[in-house]
Amino acid sequence: MINKKSIRDAELSGQRVIMRVDFNVPLDKEVNITDDTRIRAALPSIEHILKQNTKLILMSHLGRPKGQVSEELRLTPVGKRLSELLSKEVIITRDSIGEETKKIISGMQTGDVALLENLRFYKEEENNDDGFAKALAEYADVYVNDAFGTAHRAHASTEGIAHHLLGLAGFLMEKEISFLGKLLYNPEKPYAAIIGGAKVSTKIGVLEKLLEKVDVLIIGGGMSYTFLKAKGFEVGHSLMETEKVSLAFELIKKADEREVKLLLPDDHLVADKVEETARVKTVDTNAIPPDMIGVDIGPKTVRAYKKEIKQAKTVLWNGPMGIFEIEKFARGTNQIANVLASSKATTVVGGGDSVAAVNKFKLAESISHVSTGGGASLEFLEGKDLPGIQALADK
Ligand code: 3PG
Repeated sequence: MINKKSIRDAELSGQRVIMRVDFNVPLDKEVNITDDTRIRAALPSIEHILKQNTKLILMSHLGRPKGQVSEELRLTPVGKRLSELLSKEVIITRDSIGEETKKIISGMQTGDVALLENLRFYKEEENNDDGFAKALAEYADVYVNDAFGTAHRAHASTEGIAHHLLGLAGFLMEKEISFLGKLLYNPEKPYAAIIGGAKVSTKIGVLEKLLEKVDVLIIGGGMSYTFLKAKGFEVGHSLMETEKVSLAFELIKKADEREVKLLLPDDHLVADKVEETARVKTVDTNAIPPDMIGVDIGPKTVRAYKKEIKQAKTVLWNGPMGIFEIEKFARGTNQIANVLASSKATTVVGGGDSVAAVNKFKLAESISHVSTGGGASLEFLEGKDLPGIQALADK
């Protein structure tokens, strides 16, 4: 079990607090934020810290500028959005550790909030450079990490800095550890995991680990075709990873040995092209036409999956059931999202695409926990130690 000290356990009054947040939000071409979930998710920690007469310095990355200043990846729109959400001015600095920024930070008053410029404008951030970590640490008396989405990275602001300051978990970090930790260490049974998305190759670790934990493993999305191929079915032009067929075969074997019920689609929506205007039909698994592409699970599959999900006390969902971004192919993913939303089980959704799906169908409020981590939640569920969590103080 992971037992880290959090801001709940500390007296912060009068302190200068530096907090790592994950404000790596999606932006459109005009650099408008298209989804502010990650900013909102940090508000409980921000508000709690500010209530205690502190000075709060926030820091984040945005995108992957690789150690270079990139005008499109400045945190300015993020700072503005945060300021609207807090109904309070947010000081936005032009860099992270420059002289001007140091002056601004040392002039902060109690109750002020500052947001440092994108940390990844410095190559030292991703290199976990100790000098850079120390320069950040010098701004504050205590360090808080609320950036669960970046906890799988050993960077200066997620790992290095905790060697210089006491490191505490923020509320979001604490909540993620609590929900995902429950899935990893003591899930209430029956435990069903629904894993979808395009490729098996990105989910090998988590699939292996889940086979040790779950009672039912439900597979959907593009990756199901690699599994179906391993079972000897023809999958037409569906997405399929030829070099992963033998791995899928091993996973099927492992499920069998461990008496895990492994469910694969019985029927599919197939299309002649991946476009809204495609010609589509529903076919059984043994009748996928050679010239068509599987784009969604079919109605029989939805019924079978629903039945299993309804019996579970814990449900994890990672990865969509089809190409839900295209309306015509969204039905299966939508229906599975709805079953989760109406379930009384502990329901956890993790991973960028399935989170986007529950947001699209406006069901996030009805899920027990929607993780803010993509890669981080997968690595956590694989049982890996995340450096950003490891570095924090133990209770
Ligand atoms: C994410 O979006 O998964 C996190 O912010 C981490 O971003 P990264 O994959 O660029 O490190």
